[in-house]
Amino acid sequence: MCGIVGYIGKNNPVEFLLNSIEKLEYRGYDSSGIAVCNKNKINLLKKKGRISVLRNEVKKSQDFNSNFNLEINSGIAHTRWATHGEPSDVNAHPHMSQSGKFAVVHNGIIENYLELKKSLKRRNIKFLSQTDTEVICALIESLYDGQDFFKAVKDTVNLLEGSFALGILCADYPDKLIAVKKDSPIIIGFGEHENYIASDVSAFIDKTKKICRLGECEIAVFDKLDIKFYDFNGKEIKKEIISVDWNIGSSDKKGFEHFMLKEIMEQPEAIRNTIMPRIINNEIKIDNLDKFINSINKIYIVACGSAYHVGAAARYSFEKIAGITTIVDLASEFRYRTPAIDENTLVIITSQSGETADSLAALRESKRRGAKTLAVVNVVGSSIASEADFVIYTWAGLEIAVATTKAYSAQLSVMYLLIIFIAFKNNKITHDSVKKYIQNLIYLPELVTQMLELKSKIYEIAKKYNNSDNVLFIGRGVDYATCREASLKFKEISYSHSEAYAAGELKHGTISLIEPGSLVIAILTDKKLFEKTLSNIREVQARGAKVIGLVSESKAKIADLGLDEIIEIPATSVMMLPSITVIPLQLFAYYFALLKGRDIDKPRNLAKSVTVE
Ligand code: G6P
Repeated sequence: MCGIVGYIGKNNPVEFLLNSIEKLEYRGYDSSGIAVCNKNKINLLKKKGRISVLRNEVKKSQDFNSNFNLEINSGIAHTRWATHGEPSDVNAHPHMSQSGKFAVVHNGIIENYLELKKSLKRRNIKFLSQTDTEVICALIESLYDGQDFFKAVKDTVNLLEGSFALGILCADYPDKLIAVKKDSPIIIGFGEHENYIASDVSAFIDKTKKICRLGECEIAVFDKLDIKFYDFNGKEIKKEIISVDWNIGSSDKKGFEHFMLKEIMEQPEAIRNTIMPRIINNEIKIDNLDKFINSINKIYIVACGSAYHVGAAARYSFEKIAGITTIVDLASEFRYRTPAIDENTLVIITSQSGETADSLAALRESKRRGAKTLAVVNVVGSSIASEADFVIYTWAGLEIAVATTKAYSAQLSVMYLLIIFIAFKNNKITHDSVKKYIQNLIYLPELVTQMLELKSKIYEIAKKYNNSDNVLFIGRGVDYATCREASLKFKEISYSHSEAYAAGELKHGTISLIEPGSLVIAILTDKKLFEKTLSNIREVQARGAKVIGLVSESKAKIADLGLDEIIEIPATSVMMLPSITVIPLQLFAYYFALLKGRDIDKPRNLAKSVTVE
């Protein structure tokens, strides 16, 4: 988490730095800060709260409004998601060394910081914050011989354990900037008489499309406009500059009150953009996929958060339609187990950001064990996309709301493509069935649109039940997978408790939570499981629960159900039901949170890109 940016060039760096951390605010938003080098002094401002608070301070500060008329100006900035030390002015980045000579912004975690801090304290070095980052500045200063900025940084990073992307300024060298990467992302942008560093290209893509990704254990030294790259031993290395032609998408709310609602409404397009280029003449065409998945006999889907729920939903059809054993695992668990994987295992890492630390570590572990790795990623050129053996992009476009919606839907669509592709390749389905599945797939955006049209109805339901502070989502099979995503969405933006439960498991404990007036949301879309889930509904109704049902059945059958609210789900192949069912539940979470007055796009304590373990 945390977003870092840096600037070196002929212009005043302040506006660029503020604008850029705003673009990275999705990575964390509990405090922010900026440091600029002017003549031989580093000026620093940092504030608890959103970047707008920092902006106001910058406006008032003489230091940040003086003339930046040097030949070269430099600066760094940061938006934070707290790990070590509460969100506060003093714990915000950049951090400065005791003498004020060095300023550092950091994304990651220094695991041995306590040990280092102890030894620095023994040398009478004082610390102001509770952060691990302040140790980095202190170490650099303690290793600085008064001349060699690069050597002090190189010697420091060799003492650090953990993950770190760094931007570093030195007051002695206002025309220099150093960037370092180990296990946290950092990208370099090459502009016209100016260069940039950032956690993510979106921070500077409006300035340049010429970029280079700093590799593992690499240091970039910006000396005026020259950039040199080194490994941690100080050996110079050559890096290739690539030209990207990405359409990052719009970061404008387009008239919607929140990005989340805008992104919910963009789902038909996200699904269409993801599937259509891969359907040609009634066949699924993904270049080289055929060769790549040759000989696989097992699939692992490994991810975090909603991306993990995509795997949970897809698993049923990988097994049922493609007939292939599929295991779904949380990246944070998978990486510390000893998963039984080998060269015949396909590990699918699913990630919107492509930077989630645990998913990236799971990818590396899978490669180390010889498995084939396939990334399903939204952010082009991200770490997971770059390191996987094979990548399929979801074309959802820029997603800004912390709670994912359209990226989730696009990821599900890629799973459907893969299921059909693998099922046909393994002779589990005929060409005619492929055609039928493809027709359903092409029609999916239309069904999603129909669900979005239920907006006003869902708003009314959210209003009616807005006093519920504990919601239980129940279902079986793919419906249970959707329950898990719906419950996550609901709690992360409304701050009300909810739980997703396999309907058949209720009576093994959870049903004790039900009391008169409890709210239960039940999903019954898979016809084969309808009666079974209905019995579970009757069990909670018998104990006084109110039930909202999402049901795919004939009108007559629905009329007799005796539920408090019904949301009708149109019929399609069971595989694709999760894409349709999730829509009203995203809307329910959105309106429920809206009516509670929550900070929908940036819920408390969360960040969109989780680059710490
Ligand atoms: C965070 C986000 C979630 C997301 C998860 C995994 O927790 O808030 O919306 O599902 O990370 O992120 P990824 O970028 O790997 O999909």
